[in-house]
Amino acid sequence: PTSLNLAVIGGDGIGPEVVAQGLKVLRAVTDQVGVSVTTTDYDLGAKRWHKSGETLPDSVVEELRGHDAILLGAIGHPTVPSGVLERGVLLPLRFALDHCVNLRPSVLFPGAVSPLDIERVAPDGIDFVVVREGTEGPYVGNGGALRVGTPHEIATEVSVNTAYGVDRVVRDAFERASARPRKKLTLVHKHNVLVHAGHLWRRTVEAVAPEFPEVTVDYLHIDAATIFMTTDPGRFDVIVTDNLFGDIITDLAAAISGGIGLAASGNINPMRTAPSMFEPVHGSAPDIEGQGKADPTAAILSVALMLEHVGLPELAARVDQAVHDDLAERDPSVPRTTDQIGDAVAARL
Ligand code: IPM
Ligand code: MN
Repeated sequence: PTSLNLAVIGGDGIGPEVVAQGLKVLRAVTDQVGVSVTTTDYDLGAKRWHKSGETLPDSVVEELRGHDAILLGAIGHPTVPSGVLERGVLLPLRFALDHCVNLRPSVLFPGAVSPLDIERVAPDGIDFVVVREGTEGPYVGNGGALRVGTPHEIATEVSVNTAYGVDRVVRDAFERASARPRKKLTLVHKHNVLVHAGHLWRRTVEAVAPEFPEVTVDYLHIDAATIFMTTDPGRFDVIVTDNLFGDIITDLAAAISGGIGLAASGNINPMRTAPSMFEPVHGSAPDIEGQGKADPTAAILSVALMLEHVGLPELAARVDQAVHDDLAERDPSVPRTTDQIGDAVAARL
């Protein structure tokens, strides 16, 4: 492409601050090759809700559909009751735009600090990607509560897994595994207990595997996967898992590979029937809002994922490399502002 038409949702807390740095780096790298970038800001999140009670108007969803991609900062604020913005803005965006692949790479860049004893547990480093299902599972809101507030209350959240939904995400994970040097796919689930959904996932992997004979297939229960993630993270290449297991394990994955400040994600619609949305895994961190303290690295790496997705992989690689170099030379005793980190990465392009 020679132009990019982006929708930008800064959102709450530090969201707009980190997105601004992502856009700075995006403009720097696209200018070099003459790709023009236009952006339209959409005001969604806590401020809009306080002002008008609106979460995600249908008209906004329709406008978002007209863009090549969406860049999102963070949605969520302590002044809004838990669940209102999550269930009202972020999840409806993922569902409406069919973001069935929630892509979360976990790479320990040189210079990034892991709480693990890396020399011992991962001498060859950490470099895996979680393909988290993004539109189904326990996230769909299929549940209810009876006798609320009484000692006899019953609350259910029923996980929804469809053959269609599992097949498309498993295929995407196989394709990604096939394109990577180690070509290994690990299904993470809990099919010894969640027998209905678990066996659908297991059978789907078994059914697709023959189409990718070059890919080695492995399976781990979610509980065991958390152990291996801290004792042998080098064993992972591509992980495929459901929405909730993926949510949990990607926080752990971020923690072991330099922290949540470095974790990028893509909410991807692989069918390309709607724009994909790129966001840092971290939240809105309202405690440090407006202080210039937020690390924009995850937002910048999310821009790299976006460039890859829209068909500009060379530019994505340049942004990744600039972040690598910046991290490698970071001096933790010299803290930098959000803006300074953005400038430093842009200057390395
Ligand atoms: C994430 C977040 C969201 C999720 C919340 C805010 C709804 O934790 O992107 O990982 O659970 O998917
Ligand atoms: Mn999460």
